[in-house]
Amino acid sequence: MLSYGSFLFIGILLVLFVCLYYEISRRRRIHKRLKSLEAELAGSSQKLAAALQIIHQLQARLLQQEQLAGIGQLAAGIVHEINTPLAYVSNNMEILEKYFITLGTLSARYRAWRMTLGGTAEEMVREMEGLEKNLDLEYILRDIPDLLEDTNAGLQQINNIVREMRLFSRVDCQRSFERYDINRGLESILRVVHAQMASHAAVEKDLQPVPAIQAVGGEINQVLLNLVINALQAIRGKGPEPGKIRVSTWQDGAFVYCTVEDNGIGIPEENLNSIFNPFFTTKPVGQGTGLGLSISYEIIVKRHHGEIMVESIPGEVTKFILRLPVTQNQH
Ligand SMILES: Nc1ncnc2c1ncn2[C@@H]1O[C@H](COP(=O)(O)OP(=O)(O)O)[C@@H](O)[C@H]1O
Ligand SMILES: [Mg+2]
Repeated sequence: MLSYGSFLFIGILLVLFVCLYYEISRRRRIHKRLKSLEAELAGSSQKLAAALQIIHQLQARLLQQEQLAGIGQLAAGIVHEINTPLAYVSNNMEILEKYFITLGTLSARYRAWRMTLGGTAEEMVREMEGLEKNLDLEYILRDIPDLLEDTNAGLQQINNIVREMRLFSRVDCQRSFERYDINRGLESILRVVHAQMASHAAVEKDLQPVPAIQAVGGEINQVLLNLVINALQAIRGKGPEPGKIRVSTWQDGAFVYCTVEDNGIGIPEENLNSIFNPFFTTKPVGQGTGLGLSISYEIIVKRHHGEIMVESIPGEVTKFILRLPVTQNQH
């Protein structure tokens, strides 16, 4: 006969067994669920990785587009800049060609006279005088040196622009740190955008002597170009009246400062925190990608350990300030 105590014991054992059974099956269920969640997670993370890769590719493409847009702006500027000297150089060349034909005719005539030596000296002199008058020899001889001088100046101008562009094209090939003169960079950018600028904005320069900084020149040029083009667009966005763009540089201790200031539409306070975000733009599609300032931030802050700051009173003045270390070795 089993005692009450034994019943109780068996009862407790049974209860324990049932509890254990439930616990084991609950854990199995949880384990199974975990496994399926794990599989789901693996699938999701694979999808996420694929999406991330697409985003990276898109970002790279957009970055390239922004750079291309910059290069497009440059190209438009260069074409305009080269066009004027080229026009008068070719025009002068045409005139010079005619002059040479005239001179050729004259010298052929002289030569013919020399060969025949016919007629009196008086006759010859008269004929020569008539011929020189007809062909406007006096004028031609006076004009040739001027034409040649102008042509030379035009060619020199084209030469300068091409040299300037070589400096710029370092954007594509030179990625290493070098001694970079920010004043030269600014001058060169202003020359390049001069054609687009002329009717919209007067440029004021206050470039103080600054030391060459250690920088990737092409990248800093890209930032300066972004800032100048933004300033120009802000002036155009305000209305048809021409505006003012002021650029300045100075040194303070181990840093070189550069500001680009305009009196265009300005930036409302609520946008000040967003303008450096990729894709933030207030410009219509086709005019703005919203990448210029985010790329500039990357270049100045991350790659050159500098700072880019902005101040704006909408409708009055907007100022971008760059602060760049003269040397990079402390990083
Ligand atoms: N000088 C400026 N004056 C007024 N707004 C500016 C100026 N520079 C930048 N912004 C504002 O910052 C935004 C982002 O500039 P950016 O990154 O260069 O892109 P995008 O020029 O393609 O719009 C502009 O759309 C504009 O709203
Ligand atoms: Mg821009």
